[in-house]
Amino acid sequence: MTSQPQLDGRVAIVTGGSRGIGLALTGGLVERGARVVASGRTQRDLDAVSQHFGDAVATVRGDVADRALGDTLVRTATERFGGLDVLINNAGFGLFAPVAEMAVDDWDRLIATNLTGVFLCTRAAIPALRQRGGGWVINISSLAGRNSFAGGAAYCATKAGLNAFAESLMLEVRSDDIRVSTVMPGSVQTAFSPGGDAPEHDWKLAPEDVAQVVFDLLGQSARSLPSRVELRPSKPK
Ligand SMILES: NC(=O)c1ccc[n+]([C@@H]2O[C@H](COP(=O)([O-])OP(=O)(O)OC[C@H]3O[C@@H](n4cnc5c(N)ncnc54)[C@H](OP(=O)(O)O)[C@@H]3O)[C@@H](O)[C@H]2O)c1
Repeated sequence: MTSQPQLDGRVAIVTGGSRGIGLALTGGLVERGARVVASGRTQRDLDAVSQHFGDAVATVRGDVADRALGDTLVRTATERFGGLDVLINNAGFGLFAPVAEMAVDDWDRLIATNLTGVFLCTRAAIPALRQRGGGWVINISSLAGRNSFAGGAAYCATKAGLNAFAESLMLEVRSDDIRVSTVMPGSVQTAFSPGGDAPEHDWKLAPEDVAQVVFDLLGQSARSLPSRVELRPSKPK
């Protein structure tokens, strides 16, 4: 795989681009010459991104579960940077409880964020990608979408659903030169779980490791589509 694709003139949307894996994606894309629209709900984190990356990044505050956000992200990419080449569906969160104890509102929030949010952003992005003659939709799923575990029913279901969604989408849009790929990381050292970014978690993948897989995908030749990548810590505790 090519590890350092040059992305000058390319425009990407990174949902949840303000922290963790999304922040590593935002930074790596800018480093390679792309312009990025990064979203999140926390203004303080978005302000820090703006301050660090300047004009190369436009930030948009909003919840991916909000029906209007996808359109706002695509409009921002078009108005600020002239179009859209890459959508990275990264925003998501985990909530873990046995089914019998899981609050219905928590279930709804997980589905709305991790699954419906991806649908809404993707639906909004496809016309803009088609207008550019093609591009990429890259989904940050999880190994949890394949390996279920007790207490993870809702989270695992969202990621298994995302994998299925992505595969159908891939078959629908590849004839338009839109490539769809799904990255399934194992544990990553971020604040995704409370204290999950503490130094003793350095056996986990770094956010930059996940971002590197995305950059490798973007460097693939036009003939080639790795539609699903599993990525795990090489030496888990
Ligand atoms: N960390 C892991 O071990 C791991 C493993 C496998 C897969 N993943 C997946 O990787 C993705 C990124 O996770 P991470 O580890 O980087 O977590 P993180 O550090 O908590 O970052 C999550 C990002 O998504 C944003 N976000 C969360 N909910 C959102 C919502 N409803 N609307 C808009 N933005 C939202 C957050 O910003 P705000 O909170 O400000 O909105 C933040 O920018 C997720 O999809 C997660 O499921 C993580």
